[in-house]
Amino acid sequence: MELSLPKVLVVDARSRATSDLLLFLKDCGYEVLWAADGETAYNILDNEIIDVLIAELHVHRINGMRLLQVARKRNPEVCVVMITADADVELATEAMREGAYDFQTKPLNLSKLKVVIERAVSHQKLVLEMHDLYQRIDERYGLSGIIGSTPKMVQVYNKIREIAPTRTTVLLIGKTGTGKALAASAIHANSPRRDCPFVKLNCAALAESVIESELFGHERGAFTGAHRTRKGRFEIADGGTLFIDEVSEISPSTQVKLLRFLEERQLERLGGNDTIEVDVRLIAATNRDLKELVDEGKFREDLYYRLAVVLIEIPDLRERKQDIPLLVQAFLDEFNKAHNKSVKGVSRGVMDAFMTYDWPGNVRELRNCIEGMIAFARPNSVLGVSDLPPHLREQKPSTDGFYVHVGMTMQDVEKAIIEETLQSTGHNKEKTAEMLQIGLRTLYRKIKEYQIE
Ligand SMILES: Nc1ncnc2c1ncn2[C@@H]1O[C@H](COP(=O)(O)OP(=O)(O)OP(=O)(O)O)[C@@H](O)[C@H]1O
Ligand SMILES: [Mg+2]
Repeated sequence: MELSLPKVLVVDARSRATSDLLLFLKDCGYEVLWAADGETAYNILDNEIIDVLIAELHVHRINGMRLLQVARKRNPEVCVVMITADADVELATEAMREGAYDFQTKPLNLSKLKVVIERAVSHQKLVLEMHDLYQRIDERYGLSGIIGSTPKMVQVYNKIREIAPTRTTVLLIGKTGTGKALAASAIHANSPRRDCPFVKLNCAALAESVIESELFGHERGAFTGAHRTRKGRFEIADGGTLFIDEVSEISPSTQVKLLRFLEERQLERLGGNDTIEVDVRLIAATNRDLKELVDEGKFREDLYYRLAVVLIEIPDLRERKQDIPLLVQAFLDEFNKAHNKSVKGVSRGVMDAFMTYDWPGNVRELRNCIEGMIAFARPNSVLGVSDLPPHLREQKPSTDGFYVHVGMTMQDVEKAIIEETLQSTGHNKEKTAEMLQIGLRTLYRKIKEYQIE
């Protein structure tokens, strides 16, 4: 890929100092654009992707802060260097808080500025490389750390990608440990809200009475113990995403309030009269059958439909066992690093046990299982059947066959089927050859070749 020159936009009035700056930047090897006023600058930002913006913070007809916000909207990675007269240092500090990379006071020290820009550009390159890396990881394994490549998971990714850019309310359903929380953060991370808060509330962990004030906040004196006014999670999540986990656990009165928010995007704090408007995208999750709770009259039907505008169902691990090898590899890498170990892999017996097991705790159970095995493993070892937790070690091998998984070679598969058939015939080679429909001599050759005993 040919690298284009970093594009620098200078926004400052015409002056001797400005032309010196433009010349200097060209000499440094940048592609340099210049706008003498705000209007021209906005036009340029509309049409070009700018890598570095150098702007006077406050001069005739230029509002540097506004420019900064527009530039960041167009290119979140843009590096902004503000230029200010001494008196504006306070404003410049505010600019830094708004995301400016640096500020310089006039008269400019050009060699100092050069260092700042070089640092800014290399920082930017790093950020872009990280983006690129994450994108490649996503392409290989999934989305924002969600691992799996089976068609059922690909459907989940597609749905997440499709709805992430919108503000639509999402309901995630799936059994415990299937990755609902992971999916919720992937939706946020892939949405334009990614730089705003992602706020979570797990309703199962809280008493019914607390949930309401946690969500909506309360005024001082709203109830015994409310010594001061507190913002709720909705207000904290303003501009971002609120994830309500185990939404089935909320009380009927909180359900009414939640419905009102979804209909009107408004709320009041407990004990308060002021109506507060917030811009929040809501994601809810449940591992219970919400539809059934609706039928039993325990969950409001109107709320159910408001929550389930988009419904994403995360499949059980047992329904997508072909993802297990990929998950195992990822968790091995993760816990090798975390525990400073160098476990090389798992034996075929272990993989078979993983593929046979039912995984009632889904991906969380698999992850915990691997962490436990790695914690006790010898360095550089391959995890064997004896390292498995007892309930996995002692499960009955499946009688109807064995699992072939992605990552095995044709030779692995051939070796495995010969081993299994030999075992099922009590090592009777004639019978084995007959079942496999190969000649006896071929069987002997393969037993030798694969060192089967
Ligand atoms: N597809 C996946 N790829 C990688 N890690 C996953 C995947 N699914 C789940 N995990 C991991 O498993 C653990 C449990 O996932 P998570 O908390 O998202 O599940 P959950 O569906 O919210 O479960 P619960 O209903 O019990 O709260 C986490 O550590 C998560 O990172
Ligand atoms: Mg969860």
